[in-house]
Amino acid sequence: MNILAIESSCDETAVAVVRDGRTVLSDCIASQVETHKIYGGVVPEIASRKHIEAIYGLADEALAQAGITRNEVDAVAVTYAPGLIGAVLVGVNFAKGAACRLGVPLIPVHHIRGHIAANYLAYPDLEPPFLCLVVSGGHTMIVDVKGYTEMEILGGTRDDAAGECFDKVARVLGMPYPGGAALDRAARTGDDRKYPLPDSKVDGSPLDLSFSGLKTAAINLIHKLDQKGEMLDVPSLCAGFSRAVSDALVPRTMLALEQTGRRTLAVAGGVAANSRIRAELEREAARRGVRLCMPPLSLCGDNGAMIGSQAYYEYLAGHTADQTLNAYATKSILGEQI
Ligand code: KG4
Ligand code: ZN
Repeated sequence: MNILAIESSCDETAVAVVRDGRTVLSDCIASQVETHKIYGGVVPEIASRKHIEAIYGLADEALAQAGITRNEVDAVAVTYAPGLIGAVLVGVNFAKGAACRLGVPLIPVHHIRGHIAANYLAYPDLEPPFLCLVVSGGHTMIVDVKGYTEMEILGGTRDDAAGECFDKVARVLGMPYPGGAALDRAARTGDDRKYPLPDSKVDGSPLDLSFSGLKTAAINLIHKLDQKGEMLDVPSLCAGFSRAVSDALVPRTMLALEQTGRRTLAVAGGVAANSRIRAELEREAARRGVRLCMPPLSLCGDNGAMIGSQAYYEYLAGHTADQTLNAYATKSILGEQI
């Protein structure tokens, strides 16, 4: 089954063709990062307009690269939630038009379920159940993936997402948007103990965490040193911050593994590209003899292929939509899709 998959929830327009949920025939991305950089973050209005400009050509390119014609598309899948509402709407409307024109089913896909499915592309033998640490720009949660379309959230952030914090701290340090990767690179030469930062505990909820205090502490530290005219050791601040985020995420993920008894851990989302988090997860998983799945960096960020993969399993579960499909800025990863 060839699925034409559309992703437009944030600042990347992405279209892919995925066969039977596992084989990527093409994966095309038009990134808007350069456009948003000058504003220091994504401007929703501009994102929507850029998606409209890119999506038609990108779909043709995805079909050409896949080596298939429009008539060989068996279904159209689209991220319908969550994301910037105007941006998601562009993808949903394009997908509705394409499914109608081609006379094929329309499959709505939750963006975070898509991130988790990136693991199916990187690890062809991976099947649920497994545990997944989801760390993206907008989400941070530990998910028990019981089946391809059956999930339980075991814990997560009560406020800011990990990526959001990386980006805000990087911005205060004067790094270009999105700053997570730049902060990660800067951290490599720093001393991670020079600037101690608070932990992210939530009393009474050992699998939950709170990142807003950590983010504020890092930003206050930067401002205070600046006010006192003292030199900030940027690599060490970056190393300390990366360490604090990793120390918040990794032990909770290990606790969730112990509580569920799962023997496979997957990671998903853009922050899964972080070198400190990857190294810590590798070490802890190896210590416990747990299988660790970490998709390559190209599959960690937003892409169309991950949507095409999850779409196949949503289709098998009977989760298709008609032309009344809407886009949603927020929506739970759980339960009934629409
Ligand atoms: O999953 P994603 O591509 O988009 C969302 O669905 O949110 O994640 C983007 C986030 C951004 O906050 C970006 O700064 C962060 O992932 N990110 C990183 C790294 N690479 C990307 N954060 C920390 N370290 C990295 N190496
Ligand atoms: Zn994403």
